[in-house]
Amino acid sequence: MAGGGILGIESTAHTLSIGSVNGKGEPTPSHSAFFRPDEGGIHPREAADHHARKAGGLVKQILESGIDPTDVDAIAFSQGPGLGPCLRVGASVARALGSKWKVPIVGVNHCVAHIEIGRQQCGMDDPVLLYVSGGNTQVIARMAGRYRVLGETLDIGIGNMLDKFAREHDLPFPGGPKIEKLANEWHSENLSADLDDYALPYAVHGMDLAFSGIFTAACRLTQRGVPLGAACWSLQEHSFAACIEVAERAMAHTGKNELLFGGGVACNQRIKEMGKIMTQERGGECGVPHPQFCVDNGSMIATLGRLQLLNSGPTPLLSSAVNQGLRTDETDITWL
Ligand code: ATP
Ligand code: FE2
Repeated sequence: MAGGGILGIESTAHTLSIGSVNGKGEPTPSHSAFFRPDEGGIHPREAADHHARKAGGLVKQILESGIDPTDVDAIAFSQGPGLGPCLRVGASVARALGSKWKVPIVGVNHCVAHIEIGRQQCGMDDPVLLYVSGGNTQVIARMAGRYRVLGETLDIGIGNMLDKFAREHDLPFPGGPKIEKLANEWHSENLSADLDDYALPYAVHGMDLAFSGIFTAACRLTQRGVPLGAACWSLQEHSFAACIEVAERAMAHTGKNELLFGGGVACNQRIKEMGKIMTQERGGECGVPHPQFCVDNGSMIATLGRLQLLNSGPTPLLSSAVNQGLRTDETDITWL
């Protein structure tokens, strides 16, 4: 970096990640540590302890990767939403580095960071965002200075639903990639399969989504003896189609013709394919960032930190407390 660089720290849930952008806003690869529970879901305190243990090593790695503290203008961190204890570790590391390197800190909205890295990577101007991650499932569009949530899950995030289904079937975390693999393997051997034979409840409620019913029904399929691969295929087809339907309605209502994916579930080939087909049929564009920028990463936090620093300045220490329940539409968008 040659001055103007920003370091970004991500710690909302299972991932602790540190990345950066240079003075031109170009991201460098992040260095990450993933907390994987031995069994069950994520316990916030255990994940936070993991992050606290790994933080020093990651800072060392990023310095060894060639980042010079004298080129860093600010330290950005995820201020929310996320798990409180995890967020506090990231915020503490940011305050400590800021104080040591004598640079300001910038607290950013994690969900907005997924959008901004995607816009930058895919060169999109004014997209509808389909944000499909572990904890979040939202359809978002920029209107009147904020990213407005036009539709979202009413219960659990789609990624958490996939992880839960995987866990019920003894597949290790994260479940999404394993479900994708099993679905592909089964479907390639059963190309003429009829989805109606493996029907699940439809997850669309107006502009919103819900996934706990579909999860329970998919578990019932395997309890009835349906092959796991078939259930994985049906689970993907139903839950992804529901997300794409809400995204399409959002595009129609807002008159926007770009669809941008964000969040870890956007690593899935099938949901991307559905998004491409939908946008092609509407004469629009579909953008999918590289997987390293879809999953939680420090570079996206640095990217948004830079935009915020340039347009609305740093975060005063007294306003730097984390906010577990921070909403996508609570952040003023002061940049183009
Ligand atoms: P949030 O952004 O809500 O804090 P998070 O930290 O849980 O979420 P990400 O790192 O964005 O999420 O994504 C992790 C999720 O992505 C997991 O639920 C994982 O199963 C899912 N995922 C990753 N790869 C795939 C895939 N190929 N298919 C489906 N899901 C996937
Ligand atoms: Fe995320």
